[in-house]
Amino acid sequence: MTMFDSFHPGELWPDDRGTHINAHGGCLLRHGGRIYWYGEHKVAGRAGNLAQVGVHVYVSEDFYNWRDAGIAFDVRNSGDPLLRPGCVIERPKVLFCPGTGRFVMYFHFEKDDTYQDAAVGIAVADSPAGPFRFLRMTRPNPGVWPQNVPEELKEPGRIARTAELLSTLSCGSNPETPRGSVLGACLSAGQESRDMTLFLDDDGRAYHIYSSERNSTTHVAELTGDFLGYTGRYWRIFPFRWMEAPALFKHEGRYYFIGSGCTGWAPNAARSAVADSLAGPWTELGNPAADPGGELTYGAQSTWVEPLGDGTFLFMADIWRPEDAIDGRYLWLPVEFENGRPVLRAPKEWRLPAAAMPRW
Ligand code: DGJ
Repeated sequence: MTMFDSFHPGELWPDDRGTHINAHGGCLLRHGGRIYWYGEHKVAGRAGNLAQVGVHVYVSEDFYNWRDAGIAFDVRNSGDPLLRPGCVIERPKVLFCPGTGRFVMYFHFEKDDTYQDAAVGIAVADSPAGPFRFLRMTRPNPGVWPQNVPEELKEPGRIARTAELLSTLSCGSNPETPRGSVLGACLSAGQESRDMTLFLDDDGRAYHIYSSERNSTTHVAELTGDFLGYTGRYWRIFPFRWMEAPALFKHEGRYYFIGSGCTGWAPNAARSAVADSLAGPWTELGNPAADPGGELTYGAQSTWVEPLGDGTFLFMADIWRPEDAIDGRYLWLPVEFENGRPVLRAPKEWRLPAAAMPRW
């Protein structure tokens, strides 16, 4: 087996068996002296974008070399009518809950490729490599207004008008959505949740961050102490800025966001933002991808930022290959800070600084 001692962004990345790693839209979890990489298992062809298998997990001790640890969450023979090959499972994210000693996975979950559910799936495991057990498909916070709801989004007439045309509203930028109240139209069923991530703050509180309101607005929802549900406290951020692919991290006491615009599988210019509180106000900082090719984020879309200690962060993104999903590539880059802004440069090969290598 080839042993790597550097990253090669965008290239094929063989695992310990020589097979290109299959963990797209993923995240990392560091636990018990190991690093776990969870992501969507894709198969060949266009239908490979749907969940035909489940969520794959790989294990490493050094971030460069990954062992295949199998399917952590399997949709085959699940025994649950919702969880079957051909459903959509995207952007799985896993946290360890110290309060319960369990591993909790959230993912964007759709029954099929019409993407009309805009729901989240929650699964739980006793071991980091799984097997994860499906708990439920849900929508965040039914019946609850966000902490910072603007009064106009509560107007009954506006909500009724939006409810009538909801299914016709595009999930990309359009002038109609800001005139309505998707928030109000979704109040009783729970808020729409598509692209998503999880964030664990250093006070132990966990948050689900997701593209909502037909992707027009991002929500930050506080989770309960067992990480298995919502406390009812949530906030709208980036109203009507149409963002996807959220990734959050904390640096020197401030919260940073990297995400994308909404252009399906096609790359677009990344977004970044900073705030003193997760609830906002957030200040947008523009596209962090600063080298040539950065206007399309080097062909990639964000999925996770892993803190490595000593102010070092690892940015993880996907180069999607929608026509042959299994060939999707990974763009892992260092996050640099310039004048208080996160910056993503595009080296062909790079190494983690010695200070950031795991000290278990
Ligand atoms: C963009 C999202 O970021 C992906 O996770 C996926 O949902 C595609 N859209 C589907 O077109």
